[in-house]
Amino acid sequence: MFENVKVASHFNSKERAVVFQGDCMDLLRQIPDESIQLVVTSPPYNIGKEYENRRHLNQYLEQQRMVIRECVRTLRKSGSICWQVGNYVEDSSIIPLDAVLYPAFSELKLRMRNRIIWHFEHGLHCTNRFSGRYETIIWFTKTDDYYFNLDPVRVPQKYPGKKHFKGPKSGQYSCNPRGKSPGDVWTIPNVKSNHVEKTQHPCQFPVELIERLVLSMTEEDDWVLDPFLGVGTTIIAAMRHNRRGVGAEILPKYVDIALDRIKMADEGTLHIRPMNRPVFDPQHRPLAIFNWDCWNGRRNTAPANEDHRDLFPLER
Ligand SMILES: C[S@@+](CC[C@H](N)C(=O)[O-])C[C@H]1O[C@@H](n2cnc3c(N)ncnc32)[C@H](O)[C@@H]1O
Repeated sequence: MFENVKVASHFNSKERAVVFQGDCMDLLRQIPDESIQLVVTSPPYNIGKEYENRRHLNQYLEQQRMVIRECVRTLRKSGSICWQVGNYVEDSSIIPLDAVLYPAFSELKLRMRNRIIWHFEHGLHCTNRFSGRYETIIWFTKTDDYYFNLDPVRVPQKYPGKKHFKGPKSGQYSCNPRGKSPGDVWTIPNVKSNHVEKTQHPCQFPVELIERLVLSMTEEDDWVLDPFLGVGTTIIAAMRHNRRGVGAEILPKYVDIALDRIKMADEGTLHIRPMNRPVFDPQHRPLAIFNWDCWNGRRNTAPANEDHRDLFPLER
């Protein structure tokens, strides 16, 4: 981490962290051509969150296209751009945003490297379709000569130390002893109610999701840009690994939270879920069996704040 990082409000390549309050297009105009190593963002999904004006899908895509074009201008030749998106919903029918945004990248001659599935276990419970439990990160590079380093993001082997048992390589490791690739399906908890990183923002990134991209696609001192910064997660992930971070956020209340979080991250007081911590597994908790008969008998009369511990009589 940097020593007592100063957060600038406008882009200057000598800074280490920049939080611009305003429209991302105004920030992007301040950034010189080919100066950013990684652009990573989660744009508004046009689904009527408090920070967006829902508009026709074509208008939304046109606005995204303008931002993407400007981001690509700022991207180095060895650089990467990662767009993290979910679904747009129209008349209760879903449209996967990565599919409809793909042409905005391909028409700029970017090369797609992965469509990463970010799987998580919490969210709305749908009754008319299966509940959504993943979103995607579409990763493009500007050229074929791009920076990528798997080593810092390797994960433990399923069978560590496994060796060839016959043939000319008998006795040698059959796996990479430094760990294996995390693949393109990442199970990382999303930031909901009990997550240690939760702020009042409705859809912030978990820091560990962005750390994986920062570590594999950038080197120390490189610039990482997030045009839709929210509460500053991208800058925090960049700073934690001695990269420089810059982002724009249009709502002042999120800028304030971002500045507080960046300061706390710099001082080492921000609570962050560590990378690669295993996801909570209920099988390692005593099994609780819910007493449905008892619940059905009194759900219409029970006050909302009643303690329902007695409904788990078979807890073991
Ligand atoms: C999906 S959220 C991103 C959250 C972020 N990944 C985080 O970890 O906090 C999108 C953010 O973009 C902001 N935003 C919307 N339009 C913007 C614009 N034109 N320029 C800059 N920020 C914008 C919204 O206020 C919102 O906080």
